[in-house]
Amino acid sequence: MKGFILLVLAVFAAVGTVESCGSCRTMKWAICDVDSASGCTCKLTLDETGSPQPIDCEKLVPKCFLMKAEMYRARNKLSVRGSIAGKPVETAFVDNDGIYDPDCEADGRFKAKQCNKTEECWCVNSAGVRRTDKGDKNIKCEELVETYWIRLDLKHTANATNVDATSLKEGLGKLLEKRYGYDKTLIDKVQYDPDGRFIVADLKKEMGKPGPNLGNMAYYMEKDLKVLPLFTSQEKVSLEAGTQNLEMEKILVYYVDEKAPTFTMQHLSGGIIAVIVVVVLAVVIGILLLFFCNRRRKQQYSKTQITPASPSLST
Ligand SMILES: *[C@@H]1O[C@H](CO)[C@@H](O)[C@H](O)[C@H]1NC(C)=O
Ligand SMILES: *[C@@H]1O[C@H](CO)[C@@H](O)[C@H](O)[C@H]1NC(C)=O
Repeated sequence: MKGFILLVLAVFAAVGTVESCGSCRTMKWAICDVDSASGCTCKLTLDETGSPQPIDCEKLVPKCFLMKAEMYRARNKLSVRGSIAGKPVETAFVDNDGIYDPDCEADGRFKAKQCNKTEECWCVNSAGVRRTDKGDKNIKCEELVETYWIRLDLKHTANATNVDATSLKEGLGKLLEKRYGYDKTLIDKVQYDPDGRFIVADLKKEMGKPGPNLGNMAYYMEKDLKVLPLFTSQEKVSLEAGTQNLEMEKILVYYVDEKAPTFTMQHLSGGIIAVIVVVVLAVVIGILLLFFCNRRRKQQYSKTQITPASPSLST
């Protein structure tokens, strides 16, 4: 009987550890299992073929892994939006722009060259954002260029008063440290426009030095504000400004790389290119017309000069 009670207790204890291993703070789609080697391992499925990627739930998951997982889930009609259906707020929308199926290094960094499993390739920065024109599969991307500066263009909802840049900077620092696990000294500058309710925050790390990946943080923040949190806890993100909690209704992220991107005309839209072509053609045709008209006029002029002279000579 005693043995049986001990056994039951042991089973409960085991169930207890399984439960405490049940979720991954920084990734709601991760599956965590007890394993004999390291106690508890959380893994994220990135594609149909490879084995699931073990991830560190104390840190943000690299954006390259996240994008792979999202593409996998979209292909397999798994929810990409999390467990709660519908918009979190009326202004929320889904941003699928720019998502592709990326190639990742073993540590989760982006490979410099990305092809989205097609013949068309381009080079990306450390945030996985395209920084060259698209080319064929022979395009050369010599190195992964680091994004050392991101600018967050935020807009908060209308119900706050007396917000100022200093308290915003403090609040953003807390958010970075608590929610994303990033150092608040990354915040370079915070500007505030009370009329437009715009918050502009610049996050910078030293050029050429190793440091946290700013793209990972921006990606988590974009998901937090535009779709639903990637965190297991679906608690809404809010930014402390003094005693108020601000909610954001817009986010736009600008990326600044250590080397300037090399886009050319190709990033102009087809429409603009068509207009440019038409204008250039019109100018060329105009110049040609002018040229030929002038020539004809000159020829006629010289003819009229000669014609009256000839009869006078013959007489
Ligand atoms: C990558 O390919 C998928 C379909 O395979 C497509 O939906 C997506 O728009 C592509 N992304 C880019 C950036 O080309
Ligand atoms: C503004 O409204 C949101 C809900 O819409 C609320 O969570 C937030 O605390 C409000 N902020 C202020 C400063 O009243």
